[in-house]
Amino acid sequence: MEVIITSEESIGDLVADDIAALLARKPDAVLGLATGSSPLRIYDALAARVAAGALSFSQARGFTLDEYVGLSSGHPCSYRTVIDADLVSRVDFADGAVRAPDGTAGDLAMEAGSYDRAIAEAGGVDLQILGIGTDGHIAFNEPGSSLASRTRVKTLTEQTRRDNARFFGGDVDAVPRHCLTQGLGTIMEARHIVLVATGKGKAEAVHHLVEGAVSALWPATILQHHPHVTVLVDEAAASRLQLAGYYRYAYANRSAVS
Ligand code: GLP
Repeated sequence: MEVIITSEESIGDLVADDIAALLARKPDAVLGLATGSSPLRIYDALAARVAAGALSFSQARGFTLDEYVGLSSGHPCSYRTVIDADLVSRVDFADGAVRAPDGTAGDLAMEAGSYDRAIAEAGGVDLQILGIGTDGHIAFNEPGSSLASRTRVKTLTEQTRRDNARFFGGDVDAVPRHCLTQGLGTIMEARHIVLVATGKGKAEAVHHLVEGAVSALWPATILQHHPHVTVLVDEAAASRLQLAGYYRYAYANRSAVS
């Protein structure tokens, strides 16, 4: 796991550099797309590069991580609507190239299975963007999730519903209680995972993610078992890291060995 402690402003460009390098060597790469506020600077950087003619997603494909159960794709808070607004409508993906789980499917278990199969049939995710919840969830894999889980229905914690109420006009009762989410086992199959976190509210989760015991209590800790994870955090999100000095030193010296 590589930990990069940097300014919030530079995170977007650093991840956009990785995505641009991936698309340069593999134009039909499969991207794993996260929603939420954490990836917004990445999407801004990508949109700027596409507008400048420096980057194209015309052959790329994408899969989002999760969706609220019961919100139609046209609902302003559905993650399908959010990813379309934050990224898809601002770059040049081909029509239908970005898929999201359908939280209104009549048979949610069948939808979950077919989502996992679609990812596999696309060749798997080359680069997965992730945020992290304050309780250590990734996608919507709440504490207690099986570390080997596949895409399935989960019940959201009260904390996550409170955290996400800001997207629902501050009304926690408007936040659905259930979601469809890629499982931890599904996410772990991505070839490169890039997790971004900013702000003091994420500091405890980031500490557990990088330095804690691997445990279903902090689901993101499963990433310690992945061979290629990059964690980008600002100073506030890094404030609980015990080995911050070492991570800075390793990053400052990484060109010497690459
Ligand atoms: C949500 C999403 C996650 C996201 C997390 C953090 O619950 N399901 O994919 O990473 O919350 O969101 P934010 O980046 O807005 O803090």
